[in-house]
Amino acid sequence: MIKGVIEEAEAIDWYEQHKSVEKDEEAKSIMKNAQEEEFKHFAMDLEFLLRKKPKWRAIMQNVLFKEGDIVELGEAAEEKAD
Ligand SMILES: [Fe+2]
Repeated sequence: MIKGVIEEAEAIDWYEQHKSVEKDEEAKSIMKNAQEEEFKHFAMDLEFLLRKKPKWRAIMQNVLFKEGDIVELGEAAEEKAD
């Protein structure tokens, strides 16, 4: 499933790059829709993985959707998880 997360992230990136150079607005809109679908896949794969990896989940719970300095949140989350 780690590979799945990577592949979904690569798909998101592919659409990001192609959207940035696409001139046709309708094509860009279709790519945006497809990219959002890939983001959903990324989220589902990641959630599956984190259900299997409690320590990784604990770290993410202390970093994601939090206000404040991201690096400080990461350092604190790592310490809490040890
Ligand atoms: Fe996908």
